[in-house]
Amino acid sequence: MTFIVAIDGPAASGKGTISQAVAEEFGFAHLDTGILYRIVGREALADLGPALDSDADITAIAQNISVEDLARTDLRTAAVAEAASRVAVIPGVRTALVEFQREFAKRPSGVVMDGRDIGTVICPDADVKLYVTASAEARAKRRTAELIGRGEDTQFETVLKDVEERDARDAERATAPMRPAEDAVTLDTSALSIDQAIAAAVEDIIKVYNSDT
Ligand code: DC
Repeated sequence: MTFIVAIDGPAASGKGTISQAVAEEFGFAHLDTGILYRIVGREALADLGPALDSDADITAIAQNISVEDLARTDLRTAAVAEAASRVAVIPGVRTALVEFQREFAKRPSGVVMDGRDIGTVICPDADVKLYVTASAEARAKRRTAELIGRGEDTQFETVLKDVEERDARDAERATAPMRPAEDAVTLDTSALSIDQAIAAAVEDIIKVYNSDT
């Protein structure tokens, strides 16, 4: 039996950094599932333009993504994030990506997977479920610094609006909306440093890990 840590939460909550640190700490494989939706969003923008107006074509893109795409370096822009959130509402896209994620979850090393629906839909039997969140302002502040650090020309107000729009779209979609699983532990990182947030997550996981292994 493998050990599965599911970490869900909104954009820029710190879940990606926490997931990487947890994977390192426990020697688990890590999958950032947002990358899958970003790959589809990026391809869909290239093929269909910003209107993204064919669900069938976008579903076909999701059915044909390959493992090599995970290493793409053009997925971290604001435009791709928005496209990812938009393609993620299409039920066919979500179905196409389920298998890849469930196969990954079987890795014998143990896994940490982060996204929006890992604890609720992809791995409902995960050993530990965390819901990592923070205020929209705290998240927009972090994301603005990150985007500016990457050379994107942006402002806090623009990023805050994007974050709020993305939250609403991710939480209100009909299929696999972003929400904490009933048995998830919520970790609010608004007032935490990244080291404090990682320590809190490791503490929650270690209790279960030590009793299971
Ligand atoms: O975590 P991220 O910012 O890279 O995710 C980009 C978008 O992908 C997010 O706004 C919604 C979608 N997504 C999803 O619907 N389900 C997941 N498990 C992961 C991401």
